[in-house]
Amino acid sequence: MNATVPGTDQITIRKCAGMEELEACVALQKEVWNFDDVDLVPLRMFVVSQKIGGQTIGAFQGDELVGFAFSIPGSRAGHAYLHSHMLAVRDSFRNQGLGRRLKLAQREDAIQQGFELLEWTFDPLEIKNAHLNLSRLGAIARRYSVNHYGHSSSPLQGGLPTDRLVAEWWLKSRRVVDLLEKKQPPQFKVEKKIEVPAQIYAWKSSPDDRQKAAEVQKRNREQFLSAFSQGLVALGYERDTQDNGAFLLGRWDEDWSYAAKDEE
Ligand SMILES: CC(C)(COP(=O)(O)OP(=O)(O)OC[C@H]1O[C@@H](n2cnc3c(N)ncnc32)[C@H](O)[C@@H]1OP(=O)(O)O)[C@@H](O)C(=O)NCCC(=O)NCCS
Repeated sequence: MNATVPGTDQITIRKCAGMEELEACVALQKEVWNFDDVDLVPLRMFVVSQKIGGQTIGAFQGDELVGFAFSIPGSRAGHAYLHSHMLAVRDSFRNQGLGRRLKLAQREDAIQQGFELLEWTFDPLEIKNAHLNLSRLGAIARRYSVNHYGHSSSPLQGGLPTDRLVAEWWLKSRRVVDLLEKKQPPQFKVEKKIEVPAQIYAWKSSPDDRQKAAEVQKRNREQFLSAFSQGLVALGYERDTQDNGAFLLGRWDEDWSYAAKDEE
């Protein structure tokens, strides 16, 4: 816990309102990802999102924005859902539950609007995000997108292809409701593990070691594509005491899906 940061219960989570708060989101986006300007989601997109049923939810310390979650509406096989494009928390406010609180606020608002599904993509090499998404929120992943965005200017990507897993957060599924109410990860039979070494962050950020990160990405990409083609689903995530991570794959016993049958 960072001593300079007050308890996160003093931080308010609420929808952003007015141009200044949306401008603060653009600035925080720049700070968190350090994108080139050409890769930034511009102010106008935040404005559009608010007007078409999307979400821009902020975490505020007083008037200062210290985190936000941003989503836009989408549609698949005739069903409306929300695609969450960004979740960001200022560095000095991380690991105190704000990311999770922002996601829970997204869920509450989405349910109020009548949505069942919130989706987003995440880098399968990001151990922290995988833990948050699968173990703490109860999202699942069963789709893998190779080089999803093409090249990214963000140093977080370390120059690697932008491979992404699609997180599906079925807001009213038994899995999610049980996890949020009982605070216990749902049980399932683990049929496969896909491992990510703790050193991945150091390897991505060092030009000398980047090849090692690229090898992990290539190995895991093949494993995910093969496992998903056999109907396995990433349902859990475990970390060991050295902060190595592993996706836990098994069969999901619920049938939430908006995919056309031939896409599954
Ligand atoms: C992803 C992000 C929004 C999370 O925000 P946050 O406020 O730190 O999230 P939380 O505190 O709610 O949850 C983080 C969890 O990861 C865990 N964690 C932290 N470092 C970790 C690591 N190296 N390995 C594994 N888990 C880690 C924390 O312990 C916490 O889990 P817990 O609640 O079980 O203790 C924030 O890290 C961020 O802005 N990252 C950069 C942008 C990004 O990657 N956005 C997401 C993709 S769009």
